[in-house]
Amino acid sequence: MDKKTISIIIPTYNEASSLTPLVENLHRALSSYSYEVVFVDDSSPDGTAELALSLAARYPVRVLVRSNKRGLASAVVDGLGEAQGEVVGVMDADLQHPPEVIPELLKEIQNGADIAIASRYVKGGSWQHPSLIRRAISKGAILIAHLLLPSTRQVADPMSGFFLFRREVVAGASLKPTGYKILLEILIEGEFQKVAEVPYSFKARHLGASKLGARQQIDYLKHVFSLMRRKGELLRFVKFCLVGASGVLVNMGLLWLLTELAGLFYLLSAAISIETSIITNFILNDRFTFPDRRAAGAGHFLRRLVKFNIISLAGLGVNLGILWLLTSVFGVYYLLSNLCGIAAATLWNYLANIGWTWR
Ligand code: GDD
Ligand code: MN
Repeated sequence: MDKKTISIIIPTYNEASSLTPLVENLHRALSSYSYEVVFVDDSSPDGTAELALSLAARYPVRVLVRSNKRGLASAVVDGLGEAQGEVVGVMDADLQHPPEVIPELLKEIQNGADIAIASRYVKGGSWQHPSLIRRAISKGAILIAHLLLPSTRQVADPMSGFFLFRREVVAGASLKPTGYKILLEILIEGEFQKVAEVPYSFKARHLGASKLGARQQIDYLKHVFSLMRRKGELLRFVKFCLVGASGVLVNMGLLWLLTELAGLFYLLSAAISIETSIITNFILNDRFTFPDRRAAGAGHFLRRLVKFNIISLAGLGVNLGILWLLTSVFGVYYLLSNLCGIAAATLWNYLANIGWTWR
């Protein structure tokens, strides 16, 4: 690679204590490239921006200062406007992301990857951060993304805050991230063919303090919701619920017909009605809710039907279990308990089907 090759965007908020070693380590790792570092600081009270400016006298450092604290991901988006490199990198300022990994990421880009991610969750990657709760939350966040935003499934660590990408990836994208997860936004809104993951070990933080708290976790859910809306995944969920409602009509209508007109014992009618509504729900979902997945080769029709059946019967168990628990254990009015049971079963059905039947 030649000329201005790589811009590393680093969002900062109160990171003065790690800035000097960070820039020195970056300089060592990138000495054979033409690179620049773009700090995006939200007017940190600890003087991070001033320190960064003083480092600019000796290193290829630029500093963008925003007037108030507006979040990690939006800082990266603003940094993109300043960055000049053909390849753009994003990392944290607190030395939890080792700069020595950048040349390995660059190699992946040179070998044809459009996005190269430093990953904790591919073979060789690890988590040296002391908090196991943070790790569990990280895993949970990935599960949510993999389930609800299927295009992220090819990436083991879509929550990484340390990655490189070709500028073209985001050239036509309008990035509207909320919170921390800028990579997720790029994976959904960017245009690319090949993603590579390079293992790294997420270090413990020795200097300063993390800014990731409950607020950022709620922001994450909002962000996923916004991405689902933008990508039609929310509409899919609405369709799934509509199909479910149609199944209730089929079930009730048939129960009445078989019991009143055909004279069957009502429990037998109920069993037949339940299975019939499962089958009509399946066919409608297959055509109407998941037509794209069907085309993408989600296995044989009968296979999907069997999976859908198993999930639906388990969903019935969820519904009844919650009905019983709320009513008999917590003394909730049984119709209200049933409503909660139906809501939980719908959610279960949706997530299990999107993760298994129409994977
Ligand atoms: N400009 C700006 N504005 N920077 C911010 C803000 C903000 O509101 N909030 C955080 N930062 C900067 C921090 O100063 C740091 O350089 C970086 O963003 C990461 O913040 P941390 O608070 O240290 O995050 P973390 O270590 O808990 O999590 C990070 O690493 C994980 C693993 O890669 C994040 O990047 C996560 O998204 C990531 O999963
Ligand atoms: Mn950190």
